[in-house]
Parts: sequence; C-alpha cells; structure tokens
Amino acid sequence: MFETLKPAAPDGILALMSLYRDDPRAGKIDLGVGVYRDESGGTPVMRAVREAERRLHESQATKTYLGLAGDVAFNGLMIGLVFGGDADRARLRAAQTPGGTGALRMLADLIRLARPDATVWAPDPTWPNHLPILRAAGLKIASFPYYDAATGITFDAAIESLKGAAAGDVVLLHGCCHNPTGADLSLDQWAALADFMAGRGLVPFVDIAYQGFGQGLDEDAAGLRLMAGKAPEMLVAASCSKNFSVYRDRAGAAILLGRDAAQADTAFSQLLGVGRGIWSMPPDHAAACVRIVLEDAALRADWQAELEAVRTRMLDLRRDFAEALRRASNSDRFDFIAGQRGMFSRLGLTQEQVRRLRDEHGVYIVGDSRFNVAGLPGDRLDELAARVVSVLA
Ligand code: LMR
Repeated sequence: MFETLKPAAPDGILALMSLYRDDPRAGKIDLGVGVYRDESGGTPVMRAVREAERRLHESQATKTYLGLAGDVAFNGLMIGLVFGGDADRARLRAAQTPGGTGALRMLADLIRLARPDATVWAPDPTWPNHLPILRAAGLKIASFPYYDAATGITFDAAIESLKGAAAGDVVLLHGCCHNPTGADLSLDQWAALADFMAGRGLVPFVDIAYQGFGQGLDEDAAGLRLMAGKAPEMLVAASCSKNFSVYRDRAGAAILLGRDAAQADTAFSQLLGVGRGIWSMPPDHAAACVRIVLEDAALRADWQAELEAVRTRMLDLRRDFAEALRRASNSDRFDFIAGQRGMFSRLGLTQEQVRRLRDEHGVYIVGDSRFNVAGLPGDRLDELAARVVSVLA
C-alpha cells in the first residue's frame, strides 16, 4: 500500500525548527516558528497557568471523559473572551478543540457538511497551514488579495475580488495580528467588509490565534465583534496556544453563531459529530488550566498583566528593530515594521535573500521573509540588521 505514496513536502515553517536545531553555529538566530520568546530566548509557562496547573493537580479527582464539547465552563469563558460581555449568547455555541488548528479543521468540516459546494475565500497571503486544513476537509478554495508590500492592505482589491463570490461562500479572515504580514484591517474596514458580506450572503470564518498580542484583548477582538453584530451566521476558530502560552498542550475553541438559538443547536450537534469522527473528545489539560485562570479574578488579572507585558515587549522590539534597520540601511524601507502588530511581519526579501540570510548568517526566517518579532534578540539588533542589509546587495 505505501508504495503508492510520495514523500510529503516539508512544512515551510516547521522544517525550520529542525534546520535551526542542527545548525552548530553559536551566533544563529531563530525567527521562524511563531512561539513567544522572552529576553533569555525561552518560552516560559505563564505565572497564572503554572498556578492553575498546581491547583488542577491538587483538585482533579478523575480523568474520565468530559463529553463531545469538552469542558462546558471553558467553552462559555472562551465565548466571553472572544465575543465580549455583549455577546448574543443565545445564538453562540462553542466546542473545546485541540488548539486553534483543531477548531479550524472542525469548522471546515462543518462547512462541507452544510454546504459542500461552498468556496472558502482565503486572504493572499495567509497562514500557509490554512490551505491544507481547508483542502483536507474537501473544500474548494479561492483567494482574494489582502496585502501588498509596497502599499499595505489592498482593501479595495479584496472587495473587488470578493464580488466574484457566490451567496453562501465563506470568507476566511484573521481576527487580529495577521499572519504573516502583521497588517490588520481598521475598524472602518471591518465595518465596510461586514456590510458587504452581509449584503451578499457571504459567511465570515474568523481565525483568532493571537488575541492580546496586537492592541489588547478587547481591541484585538473588536473587528470580529463588529462582524458578529452584522452577520446572521459566523464561524470562529480561537486558539489559546499563544495568549496562554500552552502551545504543546493544545487548547482552542470552535465557535459558531447561528441565525437563532434553534439553528445554532442544530449546527452545533453536527459540529460535535465532526469532532467525534476525528478525535472523539478533546484533550483537557490546557483547557482546564485556561478555565481556572479565567474563572478566578486574581489569576485572570495576573494573566492579563503578563500578557500585556508580552504585547508591549513585542511593540518595543518592533520599534527598536525598525530603528536598527533604518541605521543599517540608511533608509526608511523597513519603517513599516514598527507600525504593524502581532508576532509577525515580512522583511520583503526574495527567497534567495532568505536563503542567504540562513546559510551565510545563521538567521532563520520563513521563505516568504516572515520573521517572528518575539524571537528578535534585543541586545543584538544592530548586528541582525547588518546581516539583513548585507543580503540586499
Ligand atoms: C506559526 O505560524 O509559526 C505558528 O502558528 C506555528 C505553526 O503551527 O505554524
């Protein structure tokens, strides 16, 4: 049987992890995979999560199944975190998932069940793993232009392109901290897009994987919430990997908004059936920790404070790196980095320049020149900027 298979193409982001690990050079710099790194280059367990783990360890009396939707309290808290205090809870349903990727896959399968002919319109560029996830669910995919290195977000071109979508098609959007560009829609653009999509019967499918990393917890969800106020139906994949730093433990939520409570219940029953067919019931540890943090006022406040420190540190790194690049290149070519948000921006290098940066200078960034802002070594920014500028020639 296996003789029919060809080797799979390596994942462009994850392949960098092993290349970096195997590089013996002392001065190498890892700006590849999207994990937060502190000043010492580590990815610590957050204080509140550590305390939640301790409490969980002491209080958890059983590891029996929680059911298809996972932890119901976690799901309710995730709805609150993403949709805010004014959420129309009668129309919202959430299921705990293995990370944001689990939520994306579950919701993609739900789209196929509900509307097998729907096309999912994905922004170009987007997180590279979006496309395999949608493909694995058997969905048709189209793209709309999102970003141009010279001019920024191509909003008018996006709308023009989405005029080609049919009623019932789905539009994939990044809730905040667009991956890979760090360029987010303004609230005016969210509002205009929401009106356009509602008018044409297009269903929003929002991936929010970096809530709290951009402008703040509520600010990062403001566009999504605005969309929810106008959209009759909506799908949201939320991840706890980054903002709770529980990457390997895998926690997230698949959230759907129905036209009314009865429709939400029906769709949710199908969503749970999808999960049953993939992982049966979701893993619990990280979701239980997130629940404990969000339920406890003091832990929640401490988590928010630590998350805020993470966010502002990335903003400082953006500013300092843009300044270092300005000095090294003697130009404003890289100034945009300071104004973008979240964990990623793209340097605007060719694939050959990206390869040279890795081979000649031990600097690891993704092939499209995406770099992880949180990986920037704060005390070596001038050296790094000089390496970047040297491959431009
Ligand atoms: C990234 O974009 O680097 C992260 O979301 C990790 C991943 O799974 O690709």
